[in-house]
Parts: sequence; structure tokens; C-alpha cells
Amino acid sequence: MNSNANPLSRPLLRRFAPSLIKGTIVAALSGFALAACSPQPVAEAEPPLAGATIGGPFTLTSSTGETVRWADFRGKYAIVYFGFTFCPDICPTDMQRLAQGLKILEERNPDLVANIQPVFISVDPERDTPAKVGEFAAAFSDDLMGLTGTPEQVAAAADAFAVYYSRGEDTAGGYLVDHTNIVYFFDPDGNPLSMLPTDQGADAVAAEIEKWAN
Ligand code: NI
Repeated sequence: MNSNANPLSRPLLRRFAPSLIKGTIVAALSGFALAACSPQPVAEAEPPLAGATIGGPFTLTSSTGETVRWADFRGKYAIVYFGFTFCPDICPTDMQRLAQGLKILEERNPDLVANIQPVFISVDPERDTPAKVGEFAAAFSDDLMGLTGTPEQVAAAADAFAVYYSRGEDTAGGYLVDHTNIVYFFDPDGNPLSMLPTDQGADAVAAEIEKWAN
């Protein structure tokens, strides 16, 4: 539901600060001569999440009851989102924009999209049965994989992806689950690349995937 304090802001700062300093030193050393020449080619920036400790082993259950592990995704790009199927607003919106973004990208680059596995992982194991998660995922895309598990399995998975969640109070209409809503994008080796900007719409999602997948 809510965006919580972003666990990544500190590592990002640590990443960017040294490169800024390095850039300044290089500029100072290269001195006046270079300034008169054509500008140096700007090196392609590293993916925003390069080196972040996000993503790790999990064991969960698919909508058809099969065991799915994080290791099963190697060889494909992965998009990972944690949420819950009863979420009234944010989760469905994020999944809709993700699915639309992949559809837009598929027209430009079908081979790339065929090599991307989007995954929705429940943070509400109490209500999100495998069937329920599968039904939710299928409402957005045939390609979106829904996963759930025991409370312990879900907790371990969320921990591995630096995702926070907290079950709310019971009300007449059930309960909500407060959770981190970050759409993580991983390379085929399971290294985190970026966060997909579903808040900026489907085109921005497609562009961000294209930017870091190659
Ligand atoms: Ni939600």
C-alpha cells in the first residue's frame, strides 16, 4: 500500500558519491588540454541497483501447487513485486502498468519480452492461496507468475528482497497489508538492475526495461 522509507536510498548515495568524486579528480588531472578537445565520451551509467544486496533464495508455491525457487529464474530477466491480492488500489495499479509496459515493449522487442519473467509474490499468505494468487496474476497477464507460501516462506522471501510488510487490524471488511511496493528488475544472473517506474506509467516501464536489458 504505502511507499515506505526506501531501503535503497543509502546504498544509492554510497554508489553515486564516489563516482562523482572520481569524476572531479579525473577532470582536474586531465586539465586544460582536454577542455579544448571534443568532449570525452560519457561512459554508460551503471544500473541504479548494481551491487545492491537485493534478491536471494526463496522457496514458494505456484498457482498450480508447484515449488518455485529463486534459482529457477536464472537465464531469464526477472521482474519481482510483492503485494497482496486483496489490495484495493496500489497492487492492481502497479500490476496493470507493468503488464501494459511489457505489452508496449513486446511490440518493439518480442525476443526481449520472451526472456523476461514477471512475478507477483504474496505478502498475505493467510488469505492468498496458490489458486487465489494465480487468479489475480492471470487478470493482468498470462505471463505474470503468482507465488505464495507459508508465512515463514513468505517472510524469508520478503527479507531476501528487502521488502517490508505488516498485516493491519481486522475490520468488518477484512484487513489490509501495509507493504513496500517496489517493482524490481533483475538480470538473468539474478543481479538487481533497476526499479521499474510504474508510478510514471506503462511507457516509462517499457523504457526502463529497455535501458538496462541488453
Ligand atoms: Ni498493495
